[in-house]
Amino acid sequence: MSNSQAHAAPRIHPLMNDQKLKLGVFGMNCSNGLIISEAPTTFEMTWQQALQIVTKADQMGFEIALPLGRWRGFGGKTNFNGTSFETYTFAAAMAQATKNIGVFATSHVSTVHPVVAAKQAATIDHISGGRFGINLVMGWFRPEMEMFGGSMREHDLRYAYGDEWLDIVQRIWSTDEPFDHEGQFFQLKGVQGDPKPLQQRPCLINAGTSGAGMDFAAKNVDFAFASVDKVENIKKFMAVKDIARSKYHRNVGVCASALVIARDSEDEAHAVYQSILEHGDWVAAKNMMAVLGIESQSFNERLAKSQEKFVAGYGTNALIGTPRQIVEQLQVYSEQGLQGVVLYFLDYVKELDYFDQKIMPLLREAGLRH
Ligand SMILES: Cc1cc2nc3c(=O)[nH]c(=O)nc-3n(C[C@H](O)[C@H](O)[C@H](O)COP(=O)(O)O)c2cc1C
Repeated sequence: MSNSQAHAAPRIHPLMNDQKLKLGVFGMNCSNGLIISEAPTTFEMTWQQALQIVTKADQMGFEIALPLGRWRGFGGKTNFNGTSFETYTFAAAMAQATKNIGVFATSHVSTVHPVVAAKQAATIDHISGGRFGINLVMGWFRPEMEMFGGSMREHDLRYAYGDEWLDIVQRIWSTDEPFDHEGQFFQLKGVQGDPKPLQQRPCLINAGTSGAGMDFAAKNVDFAFASVDKVENIKKFMAVKDIARSKYHRNVGVCASALVIARDSEDEAHAVYQSILEHGDWVAAKNMMAVLGIESQSFNERLAKSQEKFVAGYGTNALIGTPRQIVEQLQVYSEQGLQGVVLYFLDYVKELDYFDQKIMPLLREAGLRH
């Protein structure tokens, strides 16, 4: 296909479909996934399992397979997330193995040159037939970012860097003429890149929650991902839509992530949550919270509670209960304005299967999926 043909008929990414609540699977490329615990599970970070998880999600009609971008672990007895697959190569392989799901790379922008990223993205977009997307992350885990030389930039400057990085990538995707770039962070000559992606531009997402992060998302991405610690806080994050409309004259969708613990009875589901806490790797959780600056608060009940939330899902609200209760909670998410949720599980293979059998029919009944 020539470039002009690719431009003439851009592909539509799965995340742009008309499902009321888009679904994804998240974190399956890292050891321990998103659960900082040694609670019993058959999950192992192997290629075989990752493939099984993503192909299952594809068969279930999910829109997004989202790997976590991670370069080192958080210590503790599990060295949480210490083993992980690199996400562009992961997405390329998943693209070949699946039919309909959107395949994403999670790209720490400062770890990959924009000329390389633009070409990797275009390549995976071709492999996937226009199903590729990038989760743009600026980095916050200092020891991880220091592995790449120098020191981590100050918070808002990281977003300024990301903005310039993305301008270059998007210009490569959209212009046929070579160009020079003179910016704050990059000085480049005769930049070009072909082929162009099959999509007009690969789907872009970001999960910034700070002022600079939300501004970046409002300006640049298709979907902003909210960090939902409490349902009541979802509405606050919807401000990203107002910023997009008023400042950048564009629309941005909003999604979130969630740990799902679904069992036949409520008691069973809560017992699994307790088991995650009982087997928690509190040292790794503390290390992560220290990096995030939470350590500076005095130790109180709130901190203990947030530490629980870190052990059971990176600080995010967990959806716990029977299949019907999970659907009720997802209904509330949808009513709050969320257009999609990327899910993670203690035991991905088993629980995705359960989700398929017990929860998907109820989501259809509730009108969240068709
Ligand atoms: C759904 C979701 C996925 C994320 N994925 C990653 C990731 O893979 N790697 C990473 O370093 N940070 C990840 N983050 C962190 C965000 O990119 C962001 O840094 C964080 O939400 C803090 O916002 P801020 O950068 O505006 O302060 C993720 C956050 C969310 C909610």
